[in-house]
Amino acid sequence: MALRNKPQWELLAEPDLSKVPVEEKHYDALLVGGGMACCGAAFEIGAWLPDGATCALVDKAALERSGAVAQGLSAINTYIGENTPADYVRMVRNDLMGVVREDLIFDLGRHVDDSVHHFEEWGLPIWKKEGSEGKKLVEGGVPVRTGKWQIMINGESYKCIVAEAAKAALETKGYDLIERVFIVKLLLDANKENTIAGAVGFNLRENKVHVYTCKAMLVACGGAVNIFRPRSTDEGKGRAWYPVWNAGSTYTLCMQVGAEMTMMENRFTPSRFKDGYGPVGAWFLLFKATVTNGYGEHYVKSDRAKAELEKYAPYGLAPVTPTCLRNHLMLFEMKEGRGPIYMDTAAALNAFLEEKKASGMDEKALKKYWKELEAEAWEDFLDMSVGQAGLWASMNIEPEKVGSEIMPTEPYMLGSHSGCCGIWVSGPNEDWVPDDYKWGYNRMTTVNGLFTAGDGVGASGHKFSSGSHAEGRIAAKAMARYIRDNADFTPTLAVSADDLKAEIYKPVTVYYENYQKTTDEMVNPNYIKPRHMMERLMKYTDEYGGGWSPYYMTNGKLLDIVMQHLQWLREDSEKMAAGGLHELLRAWENLHRIWTVEDHLRHIQFREESRYPGFYYRGDFMQADDKDYDAGGWKCFVNSKYDPKTGEWTCMKKKCHQIISD
Ligand code: ADX
Repeated sequence: MALRNKPQWELLAEPDLSKVPVEEKHYDALLVGGGMACCGAAFEIGAWLPDGATCALVDKAALERSGAVAQGLSAINTYIGENTPADYVRMVRNDLMGVVREDLIFDLGRHVDDSVHHFEEWGLPIWKKEGSEGKKLVEGGVPVRTGKWQIMINGESYKCIVAEAAKAALETKGYDLIERVFIVKLLLDANKENTIAGAVGFNLRENKVHVYTCKAMLVACGGAVNIFRPRSTDEGKGRAWYPVWNAGSTYTLCMQVGAEMTMMENRFTPSRFKDGYGPVGAWFLLFKATVTNGYGEHYVKSDRAKAELEKYAPYGLAPVTPTCLRNHLMLFEMKEGRGPIYMDTAAALNAFLEEKKASGMDEKALKKYWKELEAEAWEDFLDMSVGQAGLWASMNIEPEKVGSEIMPTEPYMLGSHSGCCGIWVSGPNEDWVPDDYKWGYNRMTTVNGLFTAGDGVGASGHKFSSGSHAEGRIAAKAMARYIRDNADFTPTLAVSADDLKAEIYKPVTVYYENYQKTTDEMVNPNYIKPRHMMERLMKYTDEYGGGWSPYYMTNGKLLDIVMQHLQWLREDSEKMAAGGLHELLRAWENLHRIWTVEDHLRHIQFREESRYPGFYYRGDFMQADDKDYDAGGWKCFVNSKYDPKTGEWTCMKKKCHQIISD
């Protein structure tokens, strides 16, 4: 009986693992992931690897539309242009409440524009100011800025354009592109301590297990979504702000082999157009819209808002209020009963019209201008968040007449957007970089030969799409150097391919051993389906770990409870059941989610303060303690490490250096 997407053996027969082949391959460089960071790495690495070296990029989906940029974007949020990398560091430091890796941010700032120039070269349309239309950025074209750092694009096909260049680069060098293979876990070398040797995964289109050995690896599989209960329910659950397919794989894969993590307590709780998750950046920055509470009051300017911001000085008093504190003000209004919060789209659009009228624009030109403005407003959604355009259409929204609700969403974990959780990596090996920030190879984790970029690199947010691409390139260059320096290293695996196969296919075995014992395959005393596993995870993290339902509030007691639940969840995950390859993917993604969110909550438990009010609160420590590391305060990193030998987890404080002056 042939069922779509099910294993190929007869459904009623016992699964026969001997019929699942294991393909073993060696590459000098292995790129795991297919988003902006890995596309950057694929584009760059050939220039630096020795002739004859081998390389492959492995993506669980199809490169053309995978990763966070899959749906497209309406803006590139990091383009330095007329600004300086030092200013970029100042902006990121303030937005992330002071605790960031300035070496990594500066390094990114000095390289990111080159990636943007390449995007334009490859065909990405970048909006230009009147008078410089038709000129590329490198030819002196002046981009349409929204804020200080963002530039507008026609970006529905952004990822396709970037992926095409990555594919071409791989092909030119004879490197492999492997799509539809999910990496389950990384493998350490049998002989050399703390050194990466390979990875194992399975094919999503046929029954096949893949074992890769490599000299160096880049893991850049994005952030983590669907780790907290989303606001959407049931059929709406396929929609989230960040891509639903980002399952925390970057963090879990690296954590499990002992890579030190940093700032995993950080999360991003974006405020978005309610239910459609449409972007707000263009509305705030391009259309200069403001938010009001349910009574039409511009609450951000109120005395009570000022008093709240003062509590979180110096960041709260900065000229640009940090993202988490903007959320904090919104939540404050909602909790005091003055919701809902609206984006005042009508006032913003009409202000533009009034301005043009006042400048003497005639009726006909005014009409044309209005059409353009309206088109820009819709395109902002159509480029990157089509569902929001659908929602507006279905709700008969005319943005020039009515405002639209804004709502803080469920929390996400990421290191490239306005969050900064991730892995502790070496910075550039240069004299201005503090010694405890560098150990030889740029963007290498604390595991030899294991690199990361994009959402993977911690304490360095606000890279966005362009920065992730640039960081992939930085990491690839350093990887190539590592490979040259370790030319005589031959990776050796400590586990057999057959054992790995049995481990990976275990959920399938569990399913086929038990699925006939009940009438409904979703309900079975002997197993739990990945879908149910995810629902349980979301319930625990939401209610105890500071999700949206308790207004992002948690405390030491609640965290103790969720930790216990997570242990039980991990125990029960041994009984996850998968009836097909797609469900097998879901099972392993869930495990990656559980590990990631456990580390997140361990960090929150360790950091006894509320560093990111508006993203989460520790009810037992509502203030931020901005005293320095040396003074025993919390203006420092929290790092964690899972020991693959003992299974023990430890959290520690790490000093945060200020490199760029105020
Ligand atoms: S997007 O990825 O969904 O487009 P978002 O809407 O958060 O992102 O914002 C885009 C950019 O605008 C980011 O660089 C963000 O930091 C910035 N931004 C958004 N809202 C504001 C605001 N109110 N003030 C300053 N910067 C903002």
